[in-house]
Amino acid sequence: MTDTAFSPTLLSGKRILITGGGTGLGRGVARYLVEHGAEVHLWGRRAAVLAEAAAEASASRPGSVFHHTVDVRDYENVDATVGRIWSEHGPLTGVLNNAAANFIAQTKDLSPRAFQAITSTVMNGSFHTTHAVGKRWIAEGLPGSVLSTLTTWVWTGSAYVVPSAMAKAAVHSMTMSLAVEWAKYGIRVNALAPGPIPTDYAWEMLNPTDKSSVGATQADQIPAGRTGTIEELANLTMFLLSDACDYLTGQTIAMDGGQMLAGPGTFAGLSNLTDADWAQIRDSSKAASESSKAERTV
Ligand code: HXC
Repeated sequence: MTDTAFSPTLLSGKRILITGGGTGLGRGVARYLVEHGAEVHLWGRRAAVLAEAAAEASASRPGSVFHHTVDVRDYENVDATVGRIWSEHGPLTGVLNNAAANFIAQTKDLSPRAFQAITSTVMNGSFHTTHAVGKRWIAEGLPGSVLSTLTTWVWTGSAYVVPSAMAKAAVHSMTMSLAVEWAKYGIRVNALAPGPIPTDYAWEMLNPTDKSSVGATQADQIPAGRTGTIEELANLTMFLLSDACDYLTGQTIAMDGGQMLAGPGTFAGLSNLTDADWAQIRDSSKAASESSKAERTV
């Protein structure tokens, strides 16, 4: 176990679902939840990737991580899998809505299907999961904690990732709305808005051209002078999924080294790109998503 700001039993007795848990931030955070006592359930669309992530996350406590092949866009799939977790393992205590879909593109070039692919994962997927878990908590009189991974675009909007910005803003609204509606049931609903934290796929997507000045990963554009770490994100996540501060609800908490307050928008620099640059971006981001799809089993 690594040095930790928290007691290693902080999350003992917690059973936490992470959507989009096979890769990126969700995968990175899972290990910390396990190291602090939680049982973790990882969801994603690719069985082999999930199995690898589960093995990695459970290294400190074998048997503490389970994985399920689920497409969060499909409510029946979500509801049935939540039901199976309940009957085979027991009630969840927390949910991390982390599954995302995004690519950089000029909005004028987006097809309706492209808009749908992104918004149905982020907005519908977060609602489906929150609803399927929340209704069970309410029916059984159990408390719970919902957390969603958002971005600071919920306050500023963001050029060139408009469907993502719109969908994340919707989840920000769900966070505020359900915090009020579900407080009487002991259910807390919060969100995190991390700035850039290096993970393989996001890094490829965030640096769309070989023009290094227009990517979103330049540490010199962040007041703190560096990108964030998974450990920092995990610490905030664990705090919010623990019982440390049950009075905290309805909040989207930015953790971005001051990036948003220093402006401008994440991709504002892309306004200088040429049509040839945009063609290259489309090709390289499609290639990245195709190679991830090749490993998908559903
Ligand atoms: C323009 C694109 C495109 C691109 C896909 N489309 N990629 N249009 N530029 N780069 C269009 C397709 O042509 C198609 O429309 C429609 O989008 C749906 O594409 P599919 O490949 O059929 O959809 P699907 O299989 O559902 O894949 C969704 C996906 C894919 C978003 C394209 O990349 C994916 O599943 N990603 C999941 C992981 C992910 O994106 N994580 C993001 C987290 S990282 P037509 O009309 O042609 O049929 C992150 C950090 C920030 O959020 C990243 C910044 C960008």
